[in-house]
Amino acid sequence: MANVLSTETLDAEVLDKVQALIAQHKDMPGALLPLLHSIQDGIGYVPEACYLPISKALALSVAEVHGVVTFYHHFRSHPAGRHILQICRAESCQAMGSEKLEANIKSSLGIDYHQTTADGAITLEPVYCLGNCACSPALMMDDEVYGRMNSQKVAELISDARATS
Ligand code: FES
Repeated sequence: MANVLSTETLDAEVLDKVQALIAQHKDMPGALLPLLHSIQDGIGYVPEACYLPISKALALSVAEVHGVVTFYHHFRSHPAGRHILQICRAESCQAMGSEKLEANIKSSLGIDYHQTTADGAITLEPVYCLGNCACSPALMMDDEVYGRMNSQKVAELISDARATS
């Protein structure tokens, strides 16, 4: 297991946001997942430095918090790039060639899943069904779902995203 007692420090503004979110959620039943979602929605990721204050507030161990964050692919442990590109890896998309597509995307961006391009523009993430199976292979750029994708279309999407950031 990774070192769950992170030495990462958060700036005061981020720490204040996290503390406020912890205070909002700590008394609700089953607070951990809603709290983690709210932290990621609020600051873009779930820093390891949050694990200890979360564990104290919810009477959990740091290892339990770490285990939940790392179990769910949805949670990021590092800040994301300016755009999030999520590639569907579920069955329908795989049947329509998503494995080859994802290999091309990784190669052209020079990154793997859960990494961000050196220019900070694109973070690449896997996703497991976007509800767009009829138009496989599908992917999502930020909040927009795209279907019937190929390498050329993805290259254009990435280029447009870089131009707008
Ligand atoms: S399997 Fe890819 S959108 Fe459903």
